Amino acid sequence: MLLLLLPFVPLVVICYCFRRCFCCCGKNDYTGRHVMITGGSSGIGLALAKLFVRRGANVTIVARNKEKLIAAKSELNECQTKSEQGRLFQAVYAVSVDLSQGVEAINAAVAQPISEIGQVDVLINNAGTASCGRFLDVDEKDFLRQMEINYLSSVYTTRSILPSMMQRRQGQVAFVSSMAGQVGLYGYSAYTPSKYALRGLAECVQMEVKPRNIKVSVVFPPDTDTPGFANENIAKPEATKRLSGSAGLFTSEQVAENIFTGLERNRYNIWVGLDGFFLSTLTCGMGPSKSFFESFPQVMLGGFLRFVALCYVSMFNSTVYQCEREENRL
Ligand SMILES: NC(=O)c1ccc[n+]([C@@H]2O[C@H](COP(=O)([O-])OP(=O)(O)OC[C@H]3O[C@@H](n4cnc5c(N)ncnc54)[C@H](OP(=O)(O)O)[C@@H]3O)[C@@H](O)[C@H]2O)c1
Repeated sequence: MLLLLLPFVPLVVICYCFRRCFCCCGKNDYTGRHVMITGGSSGIGLALAKLFVRRGANVTIVARNKEKLIAAKSELNECQTKSEQGRLFQAVYAVSVDLSQGVEAINAAVAQPISEIGQVDVLINNAGTASCGRFLDVDEKDFLRQMEINYLSSVYTTRSILPSMMQRRQGQVAFVSSMAGQVGLYGYSAYTPSKYALRGLAECVQMEVKPRNIKVSVVFPPDTDTPGFANENIAKPEATKRLSGSAGLFTSEQVAENIFTGLERNRYNIWVGLDGFFLSTLTCGMGPSKSFFESFPQVMLGGFLRFVALCYVSMFNSTVYQCEREENRL
């Protein structure tokens, strides 16, 4: 059986390299643009905010905790470029608001940076939280809380910012989902649905805004070493650790670099690493494709990747059985 799969290996390598190396035409220039990053006070959001400031963008970060925002803002100030006279070229704003409170709360909170820097050109819906546990063990309130923070916060923020992009017929919106938004795993029953919901939202919104020249992306980060990930690990069942850990652990800088490159090139699906490539290619479904280099692997590798996925599912199931036995749960 393995011999039958050998012809696909060069195809995978070619497709992976094609996507990484040649899909580089028409890069966006973010100099002087207003980029708003929710959850920009920590982890992936903060690493991404630093990249945008270094590339000359004006950046507004949004989160709840004021101390963390002040600390993040001073880190971002360090990334600003200065003229010989010491003049700063970028503006950095930190805004405190609970995004799950709705559009009015967000409108009020972001009014000042918008009046000072101008309308938002790029919105990155990154704020999120994850807590794990077996379906029957998770606190019932957690299902609602993760839906509110991971999904509804993105709905509210996008509804706050999108109208001005629609008017100006330009802009870019990204939704940060997760690899757990592409596959359902043991222990993620409260988190995964909120990240799947973002995928559905992104697909609908992109179809509506495309005629007005607004670009939409959906991001699928793998396990990333952030304060949020450390927190998620506290109650993570052993089976979940083994399953999600199989894709490796990335730094927030690595993930931010991939997101930045994907946004710069207007990619719809933004993934990280080889597993991210496999999963995004396998789960592209009826989602849009922005270029030949994005579609080619999806068309060529669909059947082969389904076979690989079935092997993974079988491996995942035996890991679950093994953990259940080790914990005397069977
Ligand atoms: N780290 C991973 O392994 C991983 C993997 C896949 C996907 N992701 C996704 O990537 C995104 C960033 O993750 P991360 O690990 O970098 O998280 P993190 O370090 O915990 O940072 C989360 C950020 O979101 C903000 N936030 C949370 N709830 C908020 C709310 N209601 N209103 C406003 N801001 C809020 C937090 O600030 P405050 O708490 O001060 O509000 C913080 O700035 C999340 O959407 C996460 O689901 C992460």
